[in-house]
Amino acid sequence: MAFTPRVFSGIKPSGDLHLGNYLGAIRRFVPLQQTHETIYCVVDMHAITVWQDPEDLRRWTYEIAAAYIAAGLDPNKSIIFNQSQVVEHAELAWIFNCVARVGWMTRMTQFKDKAGAEGGENSEAVSLGLFAYPSLMAADILLYKATGVPVGDDQRQHLELTRDIAKKFNHDFKKQIKGLGVKDDFFPLTETLSTGPAMRVMSLKDGKKKMSKSDASDMSTIYMMDDADTIAKKIKRATTDADALPTEAAGLAGRAEAENLVAIYAALSDTSVDGVLAEFGGSGWGKFKPALAELAVAVLSPIATEMKRLVADTGEMDQILRRNADRARAIAVPVMDDVRKIVGFVR
Ligand code: TRP
Repeated sequence: MAFTPRVFSGIKPSGDLHLGNYLGAIRRFVPLQQTHETIYCVVDMHAITVWQDPEDLRRWTYEIAAAYIAAGLDPNKSIIFNQSQVVEHAELAWIFNCVARVGWMTRMTQFKDKAGAEGGENSEAVSLGLFAYPSLMAADILLYKATGVPVGDDQRQHLELTRDIAKKFNHDFKKQIKGLGVKDDFFPLTETLSTGPAMRVMSLKDGKKKMSKSDASDMSTIYMMDDADTIAKKIKRATTDADALPTEAAGLAGRAEAENLVAIYAALSDTSVDGVLAEFGGSGWGKFKPALAELAVAVLSPIATEMKRLVADTGEMDQILRRNADRARAIAVPVMDDVRKIVGFVR
């Protein structure tokens, strides 16, 4: 069966949004709006797999929804909502908990990393939700029979697991699915959507470390809500080496900090690394950094201004999120009705 091309992605409200979230995810979501049905979720139920202060959770939920909109996602076009408003996510996740195998979950590298970090020596002290996380993620995607998910490399394994769950469900319930009049698969085998070269924004203080909200140094991370002066200051103080910029991408090898700043420039200006080097090759940091600061401020400041306006009006945000949750439910409810029948739940 041909599935409607539909895109789903989500961001966890577990910290202030930064340049990595913007260039690695949000900015890439925008053009897909023109070519696909798009659903962009604030995955609050995923956030609580590790402890979240409820006030922060609420604030970050608004912040992500505002960032989606401020970055150019149209809430009348894309479906923008927070996960917990559509309870079907939880219901399908439970069914998937009974489809997925414990062995599949124990192989998830992100769980192993996080359980190590959260639980320290005692990784059994992490929440059961953190372990089951990929099954909720599969539910997010398959509740809408999404065919494509734009995510970074760190989520590839979860997407594979989503396909494994879809395959096992399609197989285990083959007879019931046929009984519903569905000819082939009930769930699609969702693909990772590539949206250009992989973008991993690194720390401004250490080109080998991912940019992160939990970095000890505030100067290493550009936040989406930073004001113009702060952005410029962080870029000007970014760690670099002493050499001029090379004229070709190959010349960036072994220069992690230089590579990161050039990649950021390329992403913010929608050009390639080679394109940036064609302009700046041979220049020193005294020329490149001010140019990058100016570009970053020009792109990010209007977004920050709009985000601040939106989050200040929670009444308007509530309305947008509620209205969009209704739109999400319009897709999810019939799918769940079928799933309940397939599984054998009486209603
Ligand atoms: N696990 C994703 C992350 O940590 C967030 C996420 C939850 C997601 N559900 C999703 C991403 C569904 C894409 C599709 O980044």
